[in-house]
Amino acid sequence: MASTAGIELGQARRDGTVAATVTDLGGLVVHGAVDPAAAPAALPLSLDDVAFVVSVAGRAPSLHNTQPWKFKVRGNVIELVADTSRLLRHVDPAGRELTISCGAALFGLRLGLRRLGYIPGVDVLPDAAAPSLIARVRPIGRAATTRDEAELLAAVPHRHTHRGPFTGGEVPSRLFALLTLDAAAEGCELVLIEDPVLVGDLAVLVSAAAAEQRRSAQIAAELRCWVVPAGSHRGDGVPAEARLEGSDLAAAQHGVPLPRQEGCNAHDSLPQRDFGLPGTEQAGGMPPSMTAVLATAGDTAADWVRAGQALHRLLVHAATRWVFARLQSQPLESARHRDQVRALLGLTGVPQMLLQLGRANSAPATGRRSQGDVMAD
Ligand SMILES: Cc1cc2nc3c(=O)[nH]c(=O)nc-3n(C[C@H](O)[C@H](O)[C@H](O)COP(=O)(O)O)c2cc1C
Repeated sequence: MASTAGIELGQARRDGTVAATVTDLGGLVVHGAVDPAAAPAALPLSLDDVAFVVSVAGRAPSLHNTQPWKFKVRGNVIELVADTSRLLRHVDPAGRELTISCGAALFGLRLGLRRLGYIPGVDVLPDAAAPSLIARVRPIGRAATTRDEAELLAAVPHRHTHRGPFTGGEVPSRLFALLTLDAAAEGCELVLIEDPVLVGDLAVLVSAAAAEQRRSAQIAAELRCWVVPAGSHRGDGVPAEARLEGSDLAAAQHGVPLPRQEGCNAHDSLPQRDFGLPGTEQAGGMPPSMTAVLATAGDTAADWVRAGQALHRLLVHAATRWVFARLQSQPLESARHRDQVRALLGLTGVPQMLLQLGRANSAPATGRRSQGDVMAD
């Protein structure tokens, strides 16, 4: 779909799989066929290595923090398998967002291997007869971790979906340019939406999609399973603390309206998903400083895996500079609204995620499942 200096992307093979070779960050990204039978014993993964790599993958963003993945270890091959028992059947019937979430975890596996000095070999959707098998990943060589990769890894723990107010200050355009390269390196496109009128029109579509979902009893019931009350020790789902932070959480719980700061343009912020609790979404604070859409060339499972890898990669990269994103996917969950978003933004590709970026200096962590829970055996 795209190419950046020295990087060949998305070359489809006759059998439909992608044989792109991308080695932009010291081998962070190496796609190629992985034959588990031929895995060289010379590059073994210890139990500690697997635990580390899986823990990095587990910090990936996922729809409603469902973490719809399992990891299977066979020799030095880590298989990433979609856990379809965690599919949101009503909001995500085709499993698009589930697959994006798994793609995000796949990026974590790659990054974790790079931290250990391994070059990851990745085979995406290797078995047409087993569509839940998202990828096989194994070390295929060694290369010293680069400074960029070490920085990315250091940002994994504080990377988060930012629903609270931003601190203000511009996101440097140079950083955004680098994020577009991240997306391109993963075979995706990150498109800046500069025109405030377009952002306003997008906000209208977000509201319409949210209102439509609110009218569905099935979606509401599904959502209730993934909204976690404040103080819960659950390792998945979206906790109240992640929706609102600190005193803002207390204010909202007591019905105190949050202040809107001077100079904020109401059209700058897209309405956020209310997680079935209308009125608790943040209204005050500084608005995000950039709005963008992540798009793919097509709309197949392979595109969704690419979108997930691109998403996690660029979010972690942004987090290295304490820039975080609000994510909005509601208007992309119905074909009609998705087509409208595509037409409104004049996209040639398929929109997979709306992002609003801004600076922040707090990082509320959402829970994650234990390693025991995510290992298949
Ligand atoms: C496919 C996908 C769709 C998402 N959609 C939304 C959304 O519409 N609204 C939102 O606030 N967060 C959204 N998120 C963010 C998740 O809720 C978030 O990743 C998850 O709760 C884990 O929290 P963390 O990102 O802070 O680690 C989405 C994430 C993914 C991967």
